[in-house]
Amino acid sequence: MSANLNQTNIEIDDPNFRAVFHNLQGNILKGHGREHSRHLFFALRGDARQNRQAIRQLAEKVTSALDQHQQQMSFKQTGQAHLFVNLMLSAGGYQQLDIDPQDWPDDPAFRAGMKDLQTPFDTLPRGDHTPTANPLNDDIRQWETGFQGRIDGMLLLALGGVDAEHAEQVLEAEIQALQHTCGDTLDIVLIQRGHVMRNDKGQVIEHFGFVDGVSNPKFLFSDLNEEFRNGGYSRNDPSAPLNLVLTKDPGGDADSYGSYVVYRKLQQNIKGFWDHLTLLANHLSETSPTQVDAEYAGALCVGRFKDGTPISEQGNDGWSNLFNNFNYDEDVDGLRCPLHAHTRKTNPRGDTVRQFNSPPTIERSRRIVRRGISYGDTELNPTQEWTDAGLLFLCLQASIVDQFIFMQHTWCNNAGFVRQGTGIDPLVGQSPADTAPAPQQWRAKWSNPNADTTEFSFAGFVRNRGGEYFFMPSLDFLRQLAPPQGA
Ligand code: HEM
Repeated sequence: MSANLNQTNIEIDDPNFRAVFHNLQGNILKGHGREHSRHLFFALRGDARQNRQAIRQLAEKVTSALDQHQQQMSFKQTGQAHLFVNLMLSAGGYQQLDIDPQDWPDDPAFRAGMKDLQTPFDTLPRGDHTPTANPLNDDIRQWETGFQGRIDGMLLLALGGVDAEHAEQVLEAEIQALQHTCGDTLDIVLIQRGHVMRNDKGQVIEHFGFVDGVSNPKFLFSDLNEEFRNGGYSRNDPSAPLNLVLTKDPGGDADSYGSYVVYRKLQQNIKGFWDHLTLLANHLSETSPTQVDAEYAGALCVGRFKDGTPISEQGNDGWSNLFNNFNYDEDVDGLRCPLHAHTRKTNPRGDTVRQFNSPPTIERSRRIVRRGISYGDTELNPTQEWTDAGLLFLCLQASIVDQFIFMQHTWCNNAGFVRQGTGIDPLVGQSPADTAPAPQQWRAKWSNPNADTTEFSFAGFVRNRGGEYFFMPSLDFLRQLAPPQGA
């Protein structure tokens, strides 16, 4: 019997979901939470029988949603660290396993792969179905060589609760062991190393220095309960039904579900970003009677201050430290949080309802589940531009086209969203190669309808160095990969 995926607020040990969660990979409904990770991108070089055998061997290591829960309990009780493992396949991987294309996950972007810039995708809302090729405005010339070649799958290894050196040793030993067992068939073509960065309050931050990982859809009772304790749900409902992130695994049995993965290595130009924020702050200070600094300009770009405070929640008597229980009902025109701000573009919290009378459920169905991690140099004040630093962006969803691609294309890259003249997302908006983006509108004076707006172009401090679309299949599918017929 199939599970009802319209449900939310589920206990991980709910007996009705036991078979599903036993079969489902971890890190989908809840982040694995480890501080150190390795992303091993591989190509399958054997014949279909050897490739299937290699994947079956890897599958033995994969952590299910239930295992992840048990590991978490064990860590809390004993402090023992547990290795976490995810395994995902690209469309190329399904091909190398000789799976009948009828049984591949059917998302069109997954099937095409991220390097395909020709296939058009239907990315426009409200019945205006003009398909667009290269909706992300990717420029593959900027990709690292390893990402330009064939990638059949990715193994994510993660470890926390131990110091960096120890984690390094364990993860390296795992990689050696893997090469020993599957090395003849499975060629590791690229390794990315992720590590969690924290500010002096211990909060997770990204390389521009902003608190990250605050707002995410929540599926489990324990996570919803925690968010409730952190501020309630009166102005924002973080709950999400399972079908926001899960979809039936076509290769598994009745209780088998998987999730689509978008992976993008996003390099951050930290010095360039902060230098340009200083220019923006100077420009705003010169064109209005209000003096602002680079930190304030940063909040106008991100939608939150560095400490995570939403800019829309600034009060006359200081900053609110509300984290996620907010919306833009009292800021329809973007007088507090600009309409172009990153967090507003990627989660408009009702803007599409107010602007287009679109049902709230449609906007909420665009949400993605972010599970990315920072990579590279931890220096937050580098003297060079484009250091080896950025975000290994990884998000999960039930549909790549309707969620990630829609969000990046129709919201972030679209200067006309949510109104004409809004401009692109200053953090991650991508214009077509060799095209200058239109400037955004900015105001220095917070929440003042009479404050003048001024134009300033802010873009180009994050660039994509490569990526791929994957499917994270059920464990049932991975473990039962039989030798192909006739082999
Ligand atoms: C290097 C690239 C990126 C950086 C530095 C970055 C940074 C941030 C920060 C600081 C926040 C606010 C904290 C939070 O709510 O977690 C945030 C939120 C968010 N970001 Fe990004 N981000 C990046 C890429 C992306 C991309 C490519 C997307 C999708 C197209 C995206 C989607 C989101 C979403 C959905 C939220 C939550 C918004 C909300 O619910 O209020 N981010 N990001």
